[in-house]
Amino acid sequence: MIKVFVPATSANMGAGFDCLGMALSLYNTVIVDPREEGLILDFPESDLPLVEEGENNLVYRTMKETYKIVGRPMPGLYLRQINGIPITRGLGSSAACIVAGIIAANALMGQPLKKRDIIELATRMDGHPDNVLPALIGGVTVAAMENERVYYVKQMSVDFVRFAVMIPDFPLPTSMARGILPEEISRKDAVYNISRASLMMASLITGKVENLWAASDDRLHQPYRKKFIPHFDDIVAKAKELGAKGMFLSGAGPTMIAILDKDYQRFQYEMDYYTSTFEDKWEVHILEVCRDGAWWEEVEA
Ligand code: HSE
Repeated sequence: MIKVFVPATSANMGAGFDCLGMALSLYNTVIVDPREEGLILDFPESDLPLVEEGENNLVYRTMKETYKIVGRPMPGLYLRQINGIPITRGLGSSAACIVAGIIAANALMGQPLKKRDIIELATRMDGHPDNVLPALIGGVTVAAMENERVYYVKQMSVDFVRFAVMIPDFPLPTSMARGILPEEISRKDAVYNISRASLMMASLITGKVENLWAASDDRLHQPYRKKFIPHFDDIVAKAKELGAKGMFLSGAGPTMIAILDKDYQRFQYEMDYYTSTFEDKWEVHILEVCRDGAWWEEVEA
């Protein structure tokens, strides 16, 4: 029996649309046990309809595709999915399923795929490297695609900050959040984003917290997506008042993330209290960067 752990991720990190991402200390667990035939899927009923049933299940489909790519027949399977990562909230739940599926299949086959194969396969399946890459290797990552090749850098730790992850109780499908974005932007806005995405990564590497508010700003996606999130501007203003050093939408949203360098518990308490006055229910978690990304172990049945 193989048990796989995959961290949540936050893509974009402000201006780094489709290229910056980080792994967070919140996890999905997937347990797979090969059988002669058939598929037994095991996940809490409360995850329906957001988790696909039967052979449509994303972890299962990914495993099947991985076996096909390696050229081996897929065995029957018991598959248990424990979704610690909230689904369709901008925290990389789909990427986590894809990463879990590839790692589980590779482990059952005796690891024919190496790290680079896995990164490129996961990116091809998900469509973007900014969620799958940090889920696989952890840390804060920057990635660029050249044809099918992924060029990347990983910063292992950003120990001087924590992340207040604010998760609302309503989902926002990525397709909807991408559908609202303009096809083209001006050179001025392109420069605005290139400078801020670079500033975010460089400031996280060098510990320059004073740059993070400016580095979080963006003209590619957040101004369009925030209309799906009631109280977006109120939450940003409150986070600033409570001393946050920067703030961005997590992935395609609706989760919002504030960067903190102190007073984590106070921020959590105050923001929890503030958002409790809203019509939607919000949860506030203080998380840190998951340094190493997904891992697996063999466990007794
Ligand atoms: N970079 C992607 C987006 C992440 O913002 O649409 C989606 O998970």
